[in-house]
Amino acid sequence: MKISLGADHGGFELKEAIKTWLLEKGYDVEDKGTYSIESCDYPDYAKAVALDVAAGKSDRGILVCGTGIGVSIGANKVRGIRAALCGDTFSARMSRLHNNANILALGQRVVGPGLALDIVEIWLSTSFEGGRHSTRVDKLMEIEQC
Ligand code: RB5
Repeated sequence: MKISLGADHGGFELKEAIKTWLLEKGYDVEDKGTYSIESCDYPDYAKAVALDVAAGKSDRGILVCGTGIGVSIGANKVRGIRAALCGDTFSARMSRLHNNANILALGQRVVGPGLALDIVEIWLSTSFEGGRHSTRVDKLMEIEQC
């Protein structure tokens, strides 16, 4: 599975930890930056990862900023994206089972690295349940036409 990763300066360290973990687990990783703790703008990275996922260049995306809020708002503006901001493992699991989230957003200043990696592991290993949730996800995507 190929994962596009992105973060601003507020999420850089957690992105690096996630990247190391993903590579150790054998995932194919596309790192869209940022590459240091120098101040930068989170929409740039949200857009880069979201475009990768929307275009099918990556299977899923993971975005990190200070809170996870900015990158999730940004990513959800790209057609085809369902970005879920998760601060716990239950939400991470449900975002896959019910919402078929294709981007996970995390807040480096909100969750510690241990919890963040548990969230990533669960989010990546949980499949969409389909069934009645497909109808609802289809309705979600129809909102893009408004
Ligand atoms: C950067 O200071 C911070 O605003 C950003 O990382 C993020 O939390 C925005 O939502």
